[in-house]
Amino acid sequence: MPWIQTHLVVDRSQAPLVELLFENLGALSITLGDAGDEPMLEPAPGETPLWSATRGIGLFAGDTNIDDLRSALDQALNRDTGRHLQLEVLEDKDWERAWLERFKPMRFGSRLWICPSGHRVDAADAVVVDLDPGLAFGTGTHATTALCLRWLDGADLSGKTLIDFGCGSGVLAIAALELGAARAIGIDHDPQALLASRQNAERNGVSGRLAVYSSDALPPSPKPLVIANILANVLVELEPVISGWVAPGGELVLSGILREQAEEVMTAYSDKMQFDAPMQQEGWVLLHAHRR
Ligand SMILES: C[S@@+](CC[C@H](N)C(=O)[O-])C[C@H]1O[C@@H](n2cnc3c(N)ncnc32)[C@H](O)[C@@H]1O
Repeated sequence: MPWIQTHLVVDRSQAPLVELLFENLGALSITLGDAGDEPMLEPAPGETPLWSATRGIGLFAGDTNIDDLRSALDQALNRDTGRHLQLEVLEDKDWERAWLERFKPMRFGSRLWICPSGHRVDAADAVVVDLDPGLAFGTGTHATTALCLRWLDGADLSGKTLIDFGCGSGVLAIAALELGAARAIGIDHDPQALLASRQNAERNGVSGRLAVYSSDALPPSPKPLVIANILANVLVELEPVISGWVAPGGELVLSGILREQAEEVMTAYSDKMQFDAPMQQEGWVLLHAHRR
């Protein structure tokens, strides 16, 4: 059976009404997204900010009466919605298969792989992290994660304990453990991320070596490696905390930084850290430093 997907762009104040209308009109799923160019990077847990121009997307059964839908929207929004409502017919397909086709194993550096369900990696020297996209950030598809995974692949982690600050799905901590790190501590302020990290660690057989903490728990003692893929403003604001977690002579890896923000982040850490040249990918940079 085909489906009908409707798109309607409204301003922020009307978005909750569109969501409610789509729901009352029988939408099977509703998505609110950015209709302009207004990225929302990392809202705090529990916050659901909307865009000044918000695109409401409703998925309806193929036999939905579109004229009824249009007139209900016109009435509720008090405007001629018909001119703005875009319709798209989605042919039915094997969605599980489509998902598997989209998410394929990805290699980072020379031997580190992220492998979603339904796939396998055959390379003889492969170090494989089994991971599917979930509610927490971190699959390797975003450049900030990819940079960290590439860095981890090239690092000597054997026997080290690391802190993964902003652990999200736990992808970095789990990759580090698979690559030879002894223990990892994952920290995040989002309960969903803590749960995802625990579940992913379990799935990869490293849960005995990954401890996961909420960021309001007691701060850990300094460790030889700290990796933090958070946004630049958080990295700058939390410099004293993050620097304090790096043992003397230890290493710090910072990601989540746009190229034009790199200077500001390095300046914030320069008293305690000696930086190498940044790694770059798609406008994002990774900064690596040793503690002085
Ligand atoms: C960009 S994601 C990185 C996830 C994963 N480490 C990766 O590399 O893909 C950033 C993570 O940091 C967490 N985060 C953001 N600000 C934080 C803060 N102030 N304290 C603790 N965690 C924070 C978010 O909840 C999110 O899970």
